[in-house]
Amino acid sequence: MTHQSLPAGLHPETLAVRQAQPRSHWGEHCEALFMTSSFVQPDCATAAARFANPQEGFTYSRTGNPTVASFEERLAAMEGTECAVATSTGMSAILLVALTALKAGDHIVASQSMFGSTMRLLGTEMARFGIESTFVPQTDAQAWAAAIRPNTKLLFAETPTNPLTDLCDIQALADIAHHHGALLVVDNSFATPVLQRPVEFGADIVVHSGTKFLDGQGRIMIGAVCGTTALVDKVMGTFLRSGGLNAASYNAWTAMKGLETLALRVKAQSASALTLAAWLQDHPKVARVYYPGLQSHPQHALAMRQQNGMGGAVLAFDVVGQGAEQLRRNAFHVIDSTQVCSITANLGDVKTTIVHPPTTSHGRLTEEQRQAAGIQQGLIRISVGLEHLDDLKADLLRGLDSL
Ligand SMILES: Cc1ncc(COP(=O)(O)O)c(C=O)c1O
Repeated sequence: MTHQSLPAGLHPETLAVRQAQPRSHWGEHCEALFMTSSFVQPDCATAAARFANPQEGFTYSRTGNPTVASFEERLAAMEGTECAVATSTGMSAILLVALTALKAGDHIVASQSMFGSTMRLLGTEMARFGIESTFVPQTDAQAWAAAIRPNTKLLFAETPTNPLTDLCDIQALADIAHHHGALLVVDNSFATPVLQRPVEFGADIVVHSGTKFLDGQGRIMIGAVCGTTALVDKVMGTFLRSGGLNAASYNAWTAMKGLETLALRVKAQSASALTLAAWLQDHPKVARVYYPGLQSHPQHALAMRQQNGMGGAVLAFDVVGQGAEQLRRNAFHVIDSTQVCSITANLGDVKTTIVHPPTTSHGRLTEEQRQAAGIQQGLIRISVGLEHLDDLKADLLRGLDSL
């Protein structure tokens, strides 16, 4: 294999298509996909050296694969971190962080309005291993600081949140975490490195559900953890390789090709989301729109500062209605009336997706948790894709105008 050496100081858009391109003697232009479970060793001495030190060469795809390594290197370059490790899913990336950064008796502070499975994993599931957690209001840095205990080892934030697009001030949370000797982890699945690079604001670890925007075309599941070599490669990577949380090479290849068009997609989808959000805000059957790109969003200024001047591709809105029953009926009506949008809980796709979070992505939360997170029965979440905006507006009007 030959490795093309790149000049220093390249921009993220260039790194997205040029970083990590080992080339075999065939000279392929597109990155090769190494779909193999193991690697043949030329002789016993080489095998022994490679098994003793994975840097020497590949042996078995659970412990290392060239395609997965290229995806990791490219994503790390885009996030501005020393390294990244790829996992089977976004949830296994979060599980990996929890199982390596925490032990029984430790405590996590996390936002109370994150993706449902993340809340469940860091709350209920980790409690069985003696790890305590406190969930605090996402936007209130004082509440995060007040929740810190002597045994707090990790602050976990998702910004913007799923589904209400609440932000947190990454710099403020990093200062709080570091003041107490804790790590700040940021789930960057919604923003992607195109909108924000959390380590530039002081975060220690970035996690991804690459299933979302990194792939961007709804084909595969993958996750990643990005950070320093000492922590992410040496500590977390060691656990990942033993625990078998690794990404499949086909998935890593697909996500790596997704990275090449990430900036174009995210910028176009974000621009469409802003137009759609502003349009929804004026519709009489819409009670409230949640979108960081709108001036009406309580954290608009922070979003513009922290997210490269963009609001992202995901927005949510409440339909009008009285009481939980009618609100749910109205939200179902708007969603079920669409003919273009896909009714699915995934997001970040070039195809627009629409979903009712209280009964799907956040359906396993208790009503109390949903209320604390501000998720009402009339809520609809849209991840805006690449369709023509007039078609998306017409699709939403089918249900909104007949409410
Ligand atoms: C913000 C966020 N983080 C993590 C995940 C989990 O990712 P995966 O489904 O790839 O396990 C999701 C899934 O929707 C998500 O929205």
